[in-house]
Amino acid sequence: MFLVTGATGNAGSEVVRHLQQLDAAVRTFSRSGRPRTDGALPVAGDLNDPASVASALDGVQGIFLLPGYQRLPETLAACADAGVERVVLLSSSSIPGGERTNAVTRYMRESEEAVEASGLPWTFLRPCAFAANALQWKDQLAAGDVIRAPFAQVRQATLDPYDIGAVAALALTSSGHEGKAYALSGPESLLPEERVRILGDVLGRKLTFEGQSDEEARAEMSAQMPAEYADAFFRFYVDGTLDESPVLPTVQELTGRAPRTFRTWATEHAAAFG
Ligand SMILES: NC(=O)c1ccc[n+]([C@@H]2O[C@H](COP(=O)([O-])OP(=O)(O)OC[C@H]3O[C@@H](n4cnc5c(N)ncnc54)[C@H](OP(=O)(O)O)[C@@H]3O)[C@@H](O)[C@H]2O)c1
Repeated sequence: MFLVTGATGNAGSEVVRHLQQLDAAVRTFSRSGRPRTDGALPVAGDLNDPASVASALDGVQGIFLLPGYQRLPETLAACADAGVERVVLLSSSSIPGGERTNAVTRYMRESEEAVEASGLPWTFLRPCAFAANALQWKDQLAAGDVIRAPFAQVRQATLDPYDIGAVAALALTSSGHEGKAYALSGPESLLPEERVRILGDVLGRKLTFEGQSDEEARAEMSAQMPAEYADAFFRFYVDGTLDESPVLPTVQELTGRAPRTFRTWATEHAAAFG
């Protein structure tokens, strides 16, 4: 039995999909505990509450864990007590060479450190930006054909969460991944404008991209998240402390096939744009 946290989200739902393709039994964990049609057993709980995670651990041999939640050492102690044998932690591309003064890098690295200190066998996944971040454009697409987005000059080899699921399922179900930190990217490095064009092709719409000014982007992001996180993204993408443009071989090496393209992600998720 595997416990997948964040299982209703972009990454977690793909971990569930791949574990099920391997005929593994899956228990899903999220606050909603939403009923499922895929045979996975839903459990409602809060990752900030170690007792609620503990109550979902009966018979669990491996856990897919989201980063950044409180009291992680207690959650991991509960995993050890329950006999969990593998922890696959979702982390971030910003860790190698990252600065702890960056709030995003800090919470990701603190999560990794808690896992390292737990004594449990672990694998870290360090993905670059998700292709699924394009879902942030949903409201703009409902309102018209213009997408305004920040960091117009920043290329990213965005990763389809499908490939996070594929690698996580491998690391949970097979040996040889313990103590490894896998840096993951998609197969092509694209500007936001190029992703908008591809999404327009897929949706059969002529979309126009407009880059936001840094002032506009900061104001919008500060309304959506704590200032230290908005600041973290500015340090990554405006100051250039994070380069997510390199196309990495990891998904190909681990799964034996190329990572999925942004076009494939957009095609599979076209319905989500209404
Ligand atoms: N987006 C990126 O580019 C990127 C890059 C690197 C790393 N990451 C990391 O990946 C994580 C997951 O991303 P995602 O796109 O899959 O997120 P998402 O689609 O927003 O899904 C989040 C999932 O976590 C669950 N959840 C949220 N708070 C919870 C809590 N307190 N207790 C239990 N479950 C909780 C949600 O379900 P409920 O709401 O029902 O609880 C949902 O299943 C991010 O949070 C980030 O740390 C993201």
